[in-house]
Amino acid sequence: MLPYELKPADAAAVAQMLGRFELFRSLSSEQVGRLVPFVALHRYGEGEVVIEKDAAGDAFYLIYSGEVEVTVPGLLSEKVVSRLGPGQFFGELALLLRQPRSATVVAVEETDLFVLKSLDFEMVLERSPDIAALVRAVAKERFDAL
Ligand code: CMP
Repeated sequence: MLPYELKPADAAAVAQMLGRFELFRSLSSEQVGRLVPFVALHRYGEGEVVIEKDAAGDAFYLIYSGEVEVTVPGLLSEKVVSRLGPGQFFGELALLLRQPRSATVVAVEETDLFVLKSLDFEMVLERSPDIAALVRAVAKERFDAL
């Protein structure tokens, strides 16, 4: 099943939802409002794969609600390296390092994600050094843990 796109009532509602993310705390509400046309809100069902390890990276994800599990292949079965929840993000490593996806990410319950295409992700990072620094710091920790 494909994730389906949610259509929040209006741009103001989306801006308010985005404004809750720690990642955007350095932005004014006007700046958050400018992000609205670039994000899509997708709902994933329990067990749905959001990112497949080794696939090409084309988007960045922010968790609005729900939970995802990050796994890598282990000796006999998948090894869970992390669980991420509301306010957290993923999918940054492939975009920053221009490499295939480092892990598989699966929704463990109904999960709503804001999706930012890679070019738009790059634009946001270029325009906001604070966001870039935050994303890079988290990416470094995750990369070192791989
Ligand atoms: P990417 O490699 O693009 O796709 C898989 C994503 O899983 C990766 O970006 C990170 O966002 C995330 N990820 C990988 N390793 C970890 C980890 N140790 N902890 C949390 N998230 C991770």
